[in-house]
Amino acid sequence: MVTEATAGSANGPDEPQLAPVVRVDLPAPPAFGRGSGDPGVALVTIDRQSVLNALDAAVLSALAAAFRRLDADPTCRAIVLTGAGTRAFAAGADIKGMVDATPATIETAGGFEHWESISAVGLPVIAAVRGFALGGGCELALQCDLIVAGDDATFGQPEIKLGIMPGAGGTQRLTRAVGKARAMELILTGRSFDAREAERLGMVSVVVPAEETLDRALELAGRIAAMPPLAVRSAKAVIAATQELPLAEGLRIERRVFVDLFATEDQHEGMTAFIEKRQPHWTGR
Ligand code: CAA
Repeated sequence: MVTEATAGSANGPDEPQLAPVVRVDLPAPPAFGRGSGDPGVALVTIDRQSVLNALDAAVLSALAAAFRRLDADPTCRAIVLTGAGTRAFAAGADIKGMVDATPATIETAGGFEHWESISAVGLPVIAAVRGFALGGGCELALQCDLIVAGDDATFGQPEIKLGIMPGAGGTQRLTRAVGKARAMELILTGRSFDAREAERLGMVSVVVPAEETLDRALELAGRIAAMPPLAVRSAKAVIAATQELPLAEGLRIERRVFVDLFATEDQHEGMTAFIEKRQPHWTGR
């Protein structure tokens, strides 16, 4: 297992050094401790437990660097993102680092380019959420493709109570996930909501017993990692890109990417394996 936690280990020359606030395990540890772990699944862990994994510049930069590198690694097929410990996925952007910010400093030091790098990853990303996912932490979870929530998870966009508003996608992604009426209520009051409510709102994929959260996310990632990688990336890319488009335009893009997949070996292999009643062997070509 490759575990990167400290500066310098395997970063490329142009990558910022990974700070110890983010750990990367590729392959991830095995789900429920069974077997040796799926070689295609990476685990990325935010580790600033003393401040409930609050997202400062070092965390965002390290996350962006880790995601870029995993996205370029042909052995990696899916990423699980989690927070260290049991108390928080992430309790938001680091308030202590923002208290004296001005429009000019937040524009340049707000880490917006890191948020964009994280959302640009082509691999499927699963958030494993225990405890608080508030503010930027909720936005980070919403940026993932699926959310596995422990039944101890607490979500919310409390920025309004700090005199600001969500600034890392919350007004957009929460609204798309739960609809305008509910997003307005949640964002304008800043109230928190638990995992069951998040599930009812359609924001999380599944709620699981808290202590199983990471294992269940790793299992799900393993199932996705066993799928043909080009088709997985294509489906994710189309869903992500077409959220902002009119239906007709989205359907047009879907058809184009669908048609392109018929140029891949995996398409022929998948269908041949079905006809021959055997398991497919994916090559990623
Ligand atoms: N930034 C910096 N430090 C934070 C933090 C944050 N977002 N959240 C928690 N911490 C720190 C606390 O200051 C505390 O540190 P000290 O021990 O040094 O005092 C430590 O983490 C533990 O927190 P609490 O003692 O407050 O723990 P609690 O169990 O009493 O409360 C909580 C937990 C309800 C999550 C509370 O910590 C809280 O409300 N945190 C702030 C949540 C928030 O407002 N997030 C939004 C930030 S703004 C944002 O994210 C903007 C954006 O859109 C990008």
